[in-house]
Amino acid sequence: MTDIAILVGTESGNAQMVADALQEVLEGMEHEVVLHEEPDLDEIDFANRDVVIVSCSTHGDGELPDNIIPLCEALQEQQPNLSHIRYGVVALGDQTYHQTFCQAGKDVDALLAGLGAVRIGERFEVDACTQPLPDEDAREWVKGWITQL
Ligand SMILES: Cc1cc2nc3c(=O)[nH]c(=O)nc-3n(C[C@H](O)[C@H](O)[C@H](O)COP(=O)(O)O)c2cc1C
Repeated sequence: MTDIAILVGTESGNAQMVADALQEVLEGMEHEVVLHEEPDLDEIDFANRDVVIVSCSTHGDGELPDNIIPLCEALQEQQPNLSHIRYGVVALGDQTYHQTFCQAGKDVDALLAGLGAVRIGERFEVDACTQPLPDEDAREWVKGWITQL
């Protein structure tokens, strides 16, 4: 059994829906899951955990959803050593935004990696244009992802 924190970055609920689906699948596999809908650095308590999944959409012109900005700013300011953390990223976006497809998910990914955390597997990028059921796709993704830990 693994203790997993899921961090959500969402504007209109799709990344939350994905996070809920991930939680359901992982708990069904007897893992312990804590969902952070308003991710806060102190509450996440990185020092005492080792597995994290980020479910994050992109808004504006390649920007982070408002609810995850405080966490990203705190990480940038405090620069904690996250080399004990293994993480996965589900990045939600829309291919019609060519230049900034899934940019926020890519940015959170780069931020965690820059602090020493190690991504497990590839970033899972969900295109709203071609993947109308992001939660169903995410369920399949996480079943494969968890085996790579
Ligand atoms: C105003 C607006 C701006 C967006 N900008 C981008 C973008 O720059 N890049 C991208 O890949 N997707 C962009 N998207 C698509 C969203 O990321 C996508 O619809 C996603 O599923 C929304 O997830 P959420 O409901 O969790 O916020 C944008 C969507 C809206 C409504």
